[in-house]
Amino acid sequence: MNRRHFFHATPALALLADRSTAQAQGDAPKETPDAAPSGVLTLTPPVVMAPRHDGADLVWAVGRLARGWVEWKSESGESGQAQTTPDGFFPQASRVMKVPLRDLSPGKEYQVRAITEAIDGPPERAESEWKTFRTLDPGADATRFAVWNDTHQRDETIRELHRITPASDFLLWNGDTCNDWKSEDLLIPTLLHPGGTDFSHQRPVLLTMGNHDVRGKYGYQVPETISTPSQRPYYAFRSGPVAVVCLHTGEDKPDDHPSFQGRASFQRLRERQAEWLGRVVRRPAFRDAPYRVVFCHIPLRLDEEPETLDYANGDYDHYARSSRDLWHDSLVKWKAQVVISGHTHQQAYLEPTDAFPYAQLIGGGPQSERARWIEGVADRTQLTLTTRNLQDETTHQVSFPPMA
Ligand SMILES: [Fe+2]
Repeated sequence: MNRRHFFHATPALALLADRSTAQAQGDAPKETPDAAPSGVLTLTPPVVMAPRHDGADLVWAVGRLARGWVEWKSESGESGQAQTTPDGFFPQASRVMKVPLRDLSPGKEYQVRAITEAIDGPPERAESEWKTFRTLDPGADATRFAVWNDTHQRDETIRELHRITPASDFLLWNGDTCNDWKSEDLLIPTLLHPGGTDFSHQRPVLLTMGNHDVRGKYGYQVPETISTPSQRPYYAFRSGPVAVVCLHTGEDKPDDHPSFQGRASFQRLRERQAEWLGRVVRRPAFRDAPYRVVFCHIPLRLDEEPETLDYANGDYDHYARSSRDLWHDSLVKWKAQVVISGHTHQQAYLEPTDAFPYAQLIGGGPQSERARWIEGVADRTQLTLTTRNLQDETTHQVSFPPMA
């Protein structure tokens, strides 16, 4: 039986990129991942996504029909195997393999590796490298996290972010991973192997959806390609003293904008999130949290607030008024301290005001000179959010005291 490691994946991803370029030029028939050469079993390293207090999901791309499972071992010598989907199947896929890893202990370091075995075609088995991650710990006194946003398939920027971002309890990728899903073949390299990096190494990944992440003919396939803790694009969790709410601000124009060709229905999603938000912030773990942070791609506040926008002639939302109208009261009631966003490609910070008692922090843009990453460090005394450029120089810093 052949044994292949995941890092043989690069040629297959190059093939996908070549295909997508050719398709964008309209000179090649569409191929499906099933048509990948029979020798290519795994296309990406396993990505540790959707971290929880009791586990995470491992997600990786396969080139043909396969079954997959995850082996794990802890620093204290325990070990096991995750091999069951919520529906009782052994995990199987012909494109994106997802294996839920559960029943682990909070705040503990684990090593994991993905095993893939071909179902059809020549027998083949792939074992990934071992990867390290730590389960979230809602009861910890401290946490450390990192934030990226608006990488827009800029490989150079992603590689630099990957190089300078340290190990963290989680990496929050705060939207606009892509530009426009014109081709199905863009999904896997962009979301599971960005810039060719093993980006979830020592920092399990959580995603929020940006307006570009839902744009284009194949945007509807993004949820199939990633994993979130709730299997929805909005979710909430505790990491140490920080309660985190992640929301989906949708597109930056109304759903009936002709450029969406009838594909968008985000106003309903904003309403659904408003109902959910009203409930979630009343849960004790959120209601009583020392620090309260919201992530959403489009800012809820900006200095400039035009009264009317001419969407038919190129205007778009620079801040998410339709979302804010629905979510504001719950955020105020919850005493949300800060909303962390992207979208404008220009780092910014707005202090809380009487009308908007939550601060607004905005990261940078895709170009290397505009790119930023944000580090969050919280302990018993304060939550500090530090914005840094690609030279790892601090460009902004703000701290919040714990809520009484
Ligand atoms: Fe963007």
